[in-house]
Amino acid sequence: MTQPTSPSEPSGEPGAPDEPGLSGDPGAPTAPEPTAPEPTAPEPTAPEPTAPEPTAPQAAPAIERPASHEDAVELFGPRFQDTPAEVYRELRNTYGPVAPVLLPGGVPAWLVLGYRELLRVTENTKVFGRGSARWKLWPQIPPDWPLRPMVEDNGSLLYREGDDHRRRAGAVGSALEAVDLNQMQDATQSFAQGLIDKLSEGSRADLIADYAHPLPVLALSRVLGLSDAEGVALVKAINDMVDGGPDALRGQIEVRGTMERLVARKRADPGPDATSRMIADRAGLTDQEVVEDLMVLTLAGHQPCTDWIGMTLWLLLTDHDYAADMGGGRRSVRQAMHQVLRDHTPVQIFAGRFTTQDTVLGATRIPAGDLVLLGLAGANTDPYIRPQAGGVAGPEGHNAYMSYSHGEHRCPYAGQWIAEVVAHTAVETLLEHLPDVELAVPADELRWRPSPWLRGLTSLPVTYTPAHSYTGGFGWD
Ligand code: HEM
Repeated sequence: MTQPTSPSEPSGEPGAPDEPGLSGDPGAPTAPEPTAPEPTAPEPTAPEPTAPEPTAPQAAPAIERPASHEDAVELFGPRFQDTPAEVYRELRNTYGPVAPVLLPGGVPAWLVLGYRELLRVTENTKVFGRGSARWKLWPQIPPDWPLRPMVEDNGSLLYREGDDHRRRAGAVGSALEAVDLNQMQDATQSFAQGLIDKLSEGSRADLIADYAHPLPVLALSRVLGLSDAEGVALVKAINDMVDGGPDALRGQIEVRGTMERLVARKRADPGPDATSRMIADRAGLTDQEVVEDLMVLTLAGHQPCTDWIGMTLWLLLTDHDYAADMGGGRRSVRQAMHQVLRDHTPVQIFAGRFTTQDTVLGATRIPAGDLVLLGLAGANTDPYIRPQAGGVAGPEGHNAYMSYSHGEHRCPYAGQWIAEVVAHTAVETLLEHLPDVELAVPADELRWRPSPWLRGLTSLPVTYTPAHSYTGGFGWD
C-alpha cells in the first residue's frame, strides 16, 4: 500500500498547474468559464448600519431530487449535530467514499469522505471547479436559503479560478507570510491575559463566549492593522454574523464597513500590516478586491480558531486520558492540539467544488454542474489512512489529515501558522492562569452548533478560582 501523503504539512510549493481530469471523460471539453449568477456587487456601506427592511420571502420552485438522491442522508437535524462521526461512518459503509446527501431545504449534494478521493477533488481543478456559478441548481435555490452566504460567489478569492485565483491568493499569501509570528504570539498572550483578568471579576464563565470567541478576532485585527478598539467592536459584529440570528445582516454590514474604512485609511497611510501589503502587492488589487479578501481572512481565520480552542478546552475538561497526557507532560500542548485538529476538525465540511463535466469519483457517477462537498472530517477518519480501530488513531497517530484542505484553494500556509500561534497561545495562557478550571454543567448538557460546515460548542460553562494577571487589560469597557 502506498503511504498516504500529508497535505497538511506546509511545503511552500506554489499551486500545481491544472491537470487533466483524473476520472473524468478524457474527451470532454475544457471547463467553460462560469457565467451566471453574477457575483453581487456589495452596496457601499453607510457609516451607521441600519436594520434591513423585512422582505417577503419569494416563492421558489421545489428542489428536484434526482434518483441518485432518493435515499440520501440529511446533513442536518439533531443526530448529525450531536454525532456527525457516526453519520460519516454509516455513509461510508453504505456508499463508500462518495455519498449522496441532502443539505437543509432538501438540497442535494455529494459528500466526499475518502481521503484519496478528496485529494483528487482538491487537486483536479479542471473537473472540480471553484466558481459556484457553475451550480445547476441555482434557479431552484430560494433567495432566503440559509446556506446561501456560504455557497454564493461574493466576489472574493474563495470563488476565483485559474490565474485570477493565483493573483488574489498570491497577494493574500505574501501579506500573511510577512507577519512576525513572535509579535503575534506576544499580542495574543496580552489579549488572552486581558480576557482572563475580565473573567477573574467572577468565578464562573462561558469559555466560548468569554474567551475562545473574542480572542482570535482581536489577534487577527492586529494582523490587519485595525486598532484594538476596532478589534473589540468587531468581536460583537462577527459574533452576530456567525450566529446567523436576527442581527446577522447588521453584523455583516458592520464588518464590511470596518474593512472599507481600513482599506481607505491604509491606502492613504500604509503601515506594517497585512492590509497595507495587500494594497501594495504587485497583483494590483482594487480596493473592492482587498475588502472582499479581508472579509474572507477575518471570517475564515476567526471561527475555526475559536472552535479549535473551544474543542481543546472541552477535551481537557471532559476526557480524563487527554487531560492526563497533557497535564502529565507526556505530550506538549502542540501535539495534543494537533490531535484535536485531526479528530475533531473545526471545518468538518467545506462547500465546495462544482463539477464542470460528467465524471466518476470512487465508483460514483457525478453529473456536470453538481455541488461536491469536501468531507474533511470524514476523510480524516478514512480507514485508508487510519487502518487501526476502523478509522480511530492512537494519540500520536500520524500527520495525514485534511483539516486545512489541499490543492490551490487550501488554507494558505501562513494562515495555518497564524492559527497555530493563536490557538496554542490561547490554551497555554488559560491553563497557566486558571489551572483549576472545571466544567460547571454535566458534559452531556453541552450543545453543538447546528451547522453542517463548522463543528463547535455553543457554550462551555466553567468555574475556577479567579486569578488576575495584572496586565492592565486593553479597553473592554
Ligand atoms: C484552525 C484554523 C483554520 C482552519 C481549520 C482552516 C481551514 C480552512 C479550510 C478548510 C479552507 C478551505 C480550503 C478549500 O477550499 O479547499 C480554508 C481557506 C482559507 N483560509 Fe483557513 N483555516 C484556519 C485558519 C485560517 C487563518 C488564521 C487564516 C488567515 C489569517 C485563514 C485564511 C484562509 C483563506 C484566505 C482561505 C481561502 C483560500 C483560497 O480559497 O484560496 N485560515 N481554511
